Amino acid sequence: MKRDARDGLLISPIENGTVIDHITGGEALNVLKIIGITGATTESISVATNVKSGKVGKKDIVKIVNRELRKEEVDRIALIAPKASINIIRNYEVFEKKGVEIPRLLTGVVRCPNPGCISNTNEPILSRFEVLPEGLHCLYCDQKITRDIASHLI
Ligand code: CTP
Ligand code: ZN
Repeated sequence: MKRDARDGLLISPIENGTVIDHITGGEALNVLKIIGITGATTESISVATNVKSGKVGKKDIVKIVNRELRKEEVDRIALIAPKASINIIRNYEVFEKKGVEIPRLLTGVVRCPNPGCISNTNEPILSRFEVLPEGLHCLYCDQKITRDIASHLI
C-alpha cells in the first residue's frame, strides 16, 4: 500500500468504511452534504481539505467509518468531483477502488432553477436533466445550469 505522508499526517487509516479520495480541492463539504452528513449525525467522519496531490493539484479526502455509499450518492459526487475515487476499506485493506462516472441523464438529482418549470410545480414529476459538456440542460423547460451545480442538488 502506497502511503502519502502528507495525507497520513492529516488523517489516519480506517479499519472499515469508505474513503472518497481525489475530491476536487474545496468540494469536501459539498460531498458531506451529498452523503447526508450534518451537524446532527453521529457517524465517524474524517475530512482533509486542500491536501497536495500530484494527480489533481489540491484534493480533498473524506473518510466515513463503517459505511458504504449508495449509487445515487456516488452519482451526485461525480457531478461535483469528477476525478474522485471511491475506496472501500475492509479490515484496513483497500477492498475495492473505483472511479466515479457522471450519468448522462439526471432524474430527481438537481432542482431546476426556473420557478415556472413543470418539475417545480405540485405535479408529481421528477426533474430531468441531460448532462452536456457545457453543463446541465433541463429536459422540460430548456433551462441550463452551467455553474455551481452543488447548490442545485436536491
Ligand atoms: N486508506 C485509508 N485506510 C486504509 C487504507 C487506505 O484511509 N485502511 C486511504 C488512503 O489513505 C488513500 C485511499 O484510502 O487516501 C486509497 O488508498 P490506496 O489505494 O492505498 O492509496 P493510493 O495508492 O495512493 O491510491 P490512488 O492510487 O487511488 O491514488
Ligand atoms: Zn426546468
